[in-house]
Amino acid sequence: MIIYFSGTGNSKYAATLLGNKLDEETKFLPMHKEITITSVLQRLIFVFPIYSWGVPPIVLNYIDRLNSEDCRILKEIPIFMVCTCGDETALAPEMFEKKLNEKGLTLQGGWSVIMPNNYVLLPGFNVDSEKLESEKLDKVPSRITYIAGKIKDNSKEMDYTRGSLARLKTGLVYPLFKKWGIFPSKWHWTPECVRCGKCVKVCPVNNVTFKGGHPTWGKACVSCLACFHICPVHAVEYGNMTKNKGQYFCRKK
Ligand SMILES: Cc1cc2nc3c(=O)[nH]c(=O)nc-3n(C[C@H](O)[C@H](O)[C@H](O)COP(=O)(O)O)c2cc1C
Ligand code: SF4
Ligand code: SF4
Repeated sequence: MIIYFSGTGNSKYAATLLGNKLDEETKFLPMHKEITITSVLQRLIFVFPIYSWGVPPIVLNYIDRLNSEDCRILKEIPIFMVCTCGDETALAPEMFEKKLNEKGLTLQGGWSVIMPNNYVLLPGFNVDSEKLESEKLDKVPSRITYIAGKIKDNSKEMDYTRGSLARLKTGLVYPLFKKWGIFPSKWHWTPECVRCGKCVKVCPVNNVTFKGGHPTWGKACVSCLACFHICPVHAVEYGNMTKNKGQYFCRKK
């Protein structure tokens, strides 16, 4: 089974390709109430994006919630991770492994897949150029074929693009991101909004709802940026930060 989290579709695409190669069913992590860990599982593969050189809190929380029966089953099968990132993972894989270890579980193998960047909430951060975006996407199928082969072989390989200053980025910046990375009240719509409802539909945690005919953001945002990137008229903004930022949403299947 593949359990994936995805905001703007990169990790969903990676999980789908991997699922097809390995003949594994894919489950979307926010639907966790419908995910059952049973003893028929041969292996478990987590697919998720890198957030601020760490693991998205929603993924760590899922591991935290595994009960003792889930863990008893999972101790008997290999667990793998595949993370998608714009550039680099730093020590996010170690963070994931540590969280598994806290539950008495081990990580068998893990890989990163470089995909188009979707992070736009800080000055200086923007989506990739169209050229870089398509160059990155072109390489994804062969990378997933490689990873699928390794998973079939039960490989213990750990192959990530970590980048420079990994310890500093994961150790210092990730905790700041967790604390200050998102202020849900900064999300708002602009007069360009055509009330299409796409931002409501795309939110993985149902944090966007229609009130008074326009979208409204609650406090449960997990900073996946899907609502910003999916808007067909660039009418979703985060304070003033996203005004001139580009949009990206992976629609590959
Ligand atoms: C909050 C946030 C933080 C991010 N931090 C990083 C990062 O530290 N390193 C990186 O390479 N990409 C980073 N990214 C980019 C995403 O990891 C990348 O675009 C990913 O493939 C998005 O996956 P998704 O489309 O499945 O949501 C970040 C994206 C978001 C939304
Ligand atoms: S409200 Fe937050 S969690 Fe929902 S789509 Fe927007 S950024 Fe993602
Ligand atoms: S996606 Fe954009 S246009 Fe559609 S309802 Fe949301 S803000 Fe309005």
